[in-house]
Amino acid sequence: MDAQELETEAASAVARASTLSELDEARVRFLGRKSPLKQALREVRDRESGMALNAVREAIEAAVAARQEELERAELERRLAEEVVDVTLPGEATPRGHLHLITQIRREVEDVFLGLGYRVVDGREVETTHYNFDALNFPHWHPARSRLASLFLNGDVLLRTETSPSQIRVMEESPPPIYMISLGRVYRRDTPDATHSPVFLQVEGLAIDRGISLSDLKGTLLHLMRALFGEERAMRFRTHYFPFTEPSMEPDVSCFNCDGSGCRVCRESGWIEMGGSGMVDPALFEFVGLDAEEWSGFAFGLGLERIAQLRHGVTDIRLLWENDLRFLRQF
Ligand code: DAH
Repeated sequence: MDAQELETEAASAVARASTLSELDEARVRFLGRKSPLKQALREVRDRESGMALNAVREAIEAAVAARQEELERAELERRLAEEVVDVTLPGEATPRGHLHLITQIRREVEDVFLGLGYRVVDGREVETTHYNFDALNFPHWHPARSRLASLFLNGDVLLRTETSPSQIRVMEESPPPIYMISLGRVYRRDTPDATHSPVFLQVEGLAIDRGISLSDLKGTLLHLMRALFGEERAMRFRTHYFPFTEPSMEPDVSCFNCDGSGCRVCRESGWIEMGGSGMVDPALFEFVGLDAEEWSGFAFGLGLERIAQLRHGVTDIRLLWENDLRFLRQF
């Protein structure tokens, strides 16, 4: 076997190898245990030819190592080019959440009253019959006291049926003048349907000062309604009865949908009922030890779901709390 010929042959095989596995094949063929070179090395008897064969082996090994480096670099470059990240491509959009419609309305109402200098006060969802009924001047026979109408926890402890107990607590805790609203959940023993929910939200308002009159109540609610339903709104008040106000009135707002001419939203009347209101009954002042000769005030209570339903045409109150994102995303 001609050593020089072998080296040339190996060099060209190595150079031809275009992948790492082809290179490995060439390495095995020329340097492997069964290669002619290794066989010749095993049979070598004299120093001269041993040195010559080893020189050939080293040359082939060097050629393989050099080619291996070349191929690896080429492979690395290929992958770098292929896997390059295009930072100018649009990213994957992260869905962005937003506030629940009722929370939005809650904040709108809070903003309106903070702008008028009112405090926002937390009430209690678990109340006693004293605060929920007695101190609010509910007669002993009032149907709301029934276990069929309200959710009692035990004895005289119940889930509040309205936010009005916060009126009593605020009057007990801070001397007038008082300008406060209190928003939160209230509970009634109602079977859920399109217009009833056993849990819903109210906003309670209370203003106590010297010389507060009915026109203050009217102006304040008009301001709120215009903020919620548009500057064109008008209001009217219908007499009503609530145990804790005298006189009591139900405020109506002119229909924002038809502007008073009559439509489905206002049931053809041109007016929409918004809740309850009135002048604070002097009996409440007596309960909390305020001088009814010196102080007077107004109060109101409105349903937040009702505001949302009217303004956005939501016909079923249950939709607001089912948390179907397809529904909630609209607002
Ligand atoms: N608490 C009443 C209800 O839940 C609403 C209400 C009426 C609140 C008149 C008031 C008010 O503060 O003055 O039906």
